[in-house]
Amino acid sequence: MEGTLHGRVGLVTGAAAGIGRSIAVGLARRGAHVMISDIDAEGGHDTVRSILDAGGHAVFHACDTTDPTECETLVDATLGAFGAVHMVANSLGAGSHAALTADFPPEEWREVISTHLDAVFYCMRAQIPAIIRSGGGAIVNIASVLGLVAWPQAPAYVAAKHGVIGLTKAAAVEYAPRGVRVNAVAPGILETSLLTEAGVTAGSEIQAFVTEKHAAGRLGTPEEIAEAAIWLLSDGASFTTGATLPVDGGFTAL
Ligand SMILES: NC(=O)c1ccc[n+]([C@@H]2O[C@H](COP(=O)([O-])OP(=O)(O)OC[C@H]3O[C@@H](n4cnc5c(N)ncnc54)[C@H](O)[C@@H]3O)[C@@H](O)[C@H]2O)c1
Repeated sequence: MEGTLHGRVGLVTGAAAGIGRSIAVGLARRGAHVMISDIDAEGGHDTVRSILDAGGHAVFHACDTTDPTECETLVDATLGAFGAVHMVANSLGAGSHAALTADFPPEEWREVISTHLDAVFYCMRAQIPAIIRSGGGAIVNIASVLGLVAWPQAPAYVAAKHGVIGLTKAAAVEYAPRGVRVNAVAPGILETSLLTEAGVTAGSEIQAFVTEKHAAGRLGTPEEIAEAAIWLLSDGASFTTGATLPVDGGFTAL
């Protein structure tokens, strides 16, 4: 796959860490020029540095994806830097409060829906016209297995991720005739900062419980999710749109 994306331009939101960083690094390693974006400028610049150090091309533009205007400015900055945008990964996220549905604080609900669902809408409404103007391309939204099945004490996250999968399908059917494919990846649980933020520490009972939910008997890595996302963004997936690909070590098959 090295070099297969020469002449293509990528844009990754949530690229300062975790899955987004792995997607950005993977796109650049295959020859794409990549716009790195995140609310975390320090982490974003670290991602750019690791791409430049490996001989790739990347620039950083800060964007809070809960702000529709900032999402539009980010797309303009990508077009300004690289002249086009063909491959977009939306991989932003944050931890969520744990509580039963009837106890879930409304302000926390709004926050989670804003970060995980509104943001993907704001991103795509800015990105789709630019992809069409660039001659076509693909978007991959990072959802979750919790967009396919439920998990207790995470009602807002479960609802937001089901929403991301629905929104992915809606955009896919609307824009397939105009050369834009839109897919989602549904990762199982990974060893990233989101897990630590949720209070799940290495070697803990809860970590063992979460691990057992995966038929593979282990948690995933951001690189394993990135491989699937990059395939969905590549021409190898030219007939795949509106799909949600579980990359979950068998979580949803159990
Ligand atoms: N880690 C997991 O176990 C797991 C499992 C399934 C799905 N996911 C999903 O994968 C996606 C990426 O998560 P990750 O594990 O890489 O987490 P991460 O915390 O490593 O990365 C998420 C990135 O999103 C950025 N971000 C948060 N809010 C933002 C905003 N408003 N604007 C711009 N950037 C923002 C953060 O700064 C961070 O760099 C999320 O949507 C998450 O829900 C994660």
